[in-house]
Parts: sequence; C-alpha cells; structure tokens
Amino acid sequence: MHTRRIGDTGVSAVGLGAMPMSVEGRPDESRAVATIHAALDAGVTFIDTADAYFAQADGVGHNELLVARALASHDRGREVLVATKGGHTRPDGQWALNGSPEYLKQACEASLKRLGVETIGLYQFHRPDPQVPFADSVGALRDLLDAGKIRMAGISNANPEQIRQANDILGDRLAAVQNQFSPAFRSSEPELELCAELGIAFLPWSPLGGISRAAELGSAYAPFARVAQAHGVSPQRVCLAWMLAKAPVVVPIPGASRPETAADSAAAAELPLTPPELAELDAH
Ligand SMILES: NC(=O)c1ccc[n+]([C@@H]2O[C@H](COP(=O)([O-])OP(=O)(O)OC[C@H]3O[C@@H](n4cnc5c(N)ncnc54)[C@H](OP(=O)(O)O)[C@@H]3O)[C@@H](O)[C@H]2O)c1
Repeated sequence: MHTRRIGDTGVSAVGLGAMPMSVEGRPDESRAVATIHAALDAGVTFIDTADAYFAQADGVGHNELLVARALASHDRGREVLVATKGGHTRPDGQWALNGSPEYLKQACEASLKRLGVETIGLYQFHRPDPQVPFADSVGALRDLLDAGKIRMAGISNANPEQIRQANDILGDRLAAVQNQFSPAFRSSEPELELCAELGIAFLPWSPLGGISRAAELGSAYAPFARVAQAHGVSPQRVCLAWMLAKAPVVVPIPGASRPETAADSAAAAELPLTPPELAELDAH
C-alpha cells in the first residue's frame, strides 16, 4: 500500500479506526480480531484507538485491550503504529472532559499498561477542555514526550489557533491533528490546510460520516455514487480516495467492525481519481 508520514514514521495511507469494535452495536471478539487482521492483511499499518472506547457495560480501555490482543496474534502486529488518546472520560456512559495535566499523565500510564508497551507511538489529547488552559493540557504531552512515555504527540478536535499553539509548544513533536472531516462535515478544511502548511499529519475522523451513516454515503451524495460506479468500487472507497487527494498529510482512519469493510477501505490508497472526478466530488 502507498505510505504517508506521521512524524518520523511511515504508515499506510489509510489507517483503521477501531472505535466501532468497542462501542454499542459492536461485534463479538472473534469478528473484531478478524477485522483488525483483515486490515493488516490489506497493508494497514496505522490503528487509532482511545481509552474512552467501550460500551457502558464494561470498563475503560476495552478498545485498547482489543487492539493489543489482535496485534499480538498477527505476524505483522509489531509493524503497526498505534495511536491512542486521553482526555475524554465516560461517567455513566456520557462523554465528559478532563484535560488537566495530572489526569492526562495518569490516563497515559493506564494506556501504556493496557497496550503492553513501554512507549506509546502516538498519544493524542482527545478534546480541548474549556476548564483547563489548552497550553496546560499540551504541556502534559510535552512532559510525556520528555519522559519517554510517548514517542509522538497529537491533538484532536482542535481549531487553527489551538493547532498553532500546540505547534509552538511541541515543535516537530506535534505529529498529528485528528479532526472530524467527511462529505457531510467539511468545516475542518481550514485545519486540514493549516496542517498541510505546517507539515503535520491530518487524520480525518468519521471520514465516512460516522458509524450510523457510513452505509448511506452513496445514496446521500450522488457524485460519490457516480464516480464509484465508473470505477466499479464502493462510494466509501471513493470518499477516502477523495480526501487522500486533498493533501499529502491526510491519513483517514475509517472505522470498521467487519473484515470486508476494513479491506475495502484500505484499497482506497490505490484508487487514482482524475482531476475532473475530484472537482465533481468537491462540488457535492
Ligand atoms: N477524535 C475523535 O474525537 C473521534 C471521534 C469519533 C471517531 N474517531 C475515530 O475515527 C474513527 C472513524 O470514525 P467512525 O468509526 O466514527 O466513523 P466512520 O469511519 O465514518 O464510519 C464507520 C463505519 O463505516 C463503515 N465502513 C467502513 N468502511 C466501509 C466501506 N468500505 N464500505 C461500507 N461501509 C464501510 C463501517 O461499517 P461496519 O461496522 O459494517 O464495518 C463502520 O461502522 C473511529 O473508529 C475512531 O477511531 C475519533
């Protein structure tokens, strides 16, 4: 598969978002492991998880533990860059925030244990916490880098000002920005462009519109269905190829809970789209 860079690391141009394998509606463990293995077999070398991906009935870290188990049972598991996140808490299943440096350091220690590693490849601050100065949360990432707990740092759900602020604090150790971006959600184009300018990887989350809407992408956006038909591929694959064409820093992380969808999305890295097709998709 074509590769791209996250910081100093070459990764597959398309990653895998592991969230659908841990939240409500998730598959059983054997199908989840088969899904991760199918992604690896298709050449994926980048997986995104978070401590907060779990269903209400179980505990923090379900997804990290699942990813760790799946990678341990695949020949190429050690070649994968695993990105996790801290800063979201899930009291009573709700989504809450804690961006305090003390909490982030504690969350990182817990993620290290669950992933079974001495250093996390890419650790991302999940979402700015209005109760904590953003520079303080990013300062915790700097301390974790200095302590060797994490190799690269990322931020998520950040606006251009926050990206510049984190870039000032972390320099080239700010390797990635993970924001929502899809045909249905294009308002993070300024962040994508800023990442391209600064040479920071941009990781579109929910690139297919999210777990509950991804299947309807073709019926919701006719140009994606038209281009897909012309190439004999899925509209979801076209969508990922479209965002890959936006800038060399883009590395989408489509979620999957089935081996077929994981493999289908991975193939987007090899789908060339023509300038007129890209223009048609851009105009959707
Ligand atoms: N930083 C943040 O705040 C944040 C927020 C949300 C998500 N994320 C990350 O972003 C990742 C992706 O987002 P997401 O999972 O919410 O949404 P998504 O990637 O837009 O959609 C996921 C759904 O797309 C379906 N799908 C994937 N490839 C497909 C294909 N080729 N053809 C047809 N259907 C396909 C999957 O169906 P099946 O289930 O049937 O396989 C899956 O349930 C997450 O897994 C997570 O790692 C981050």
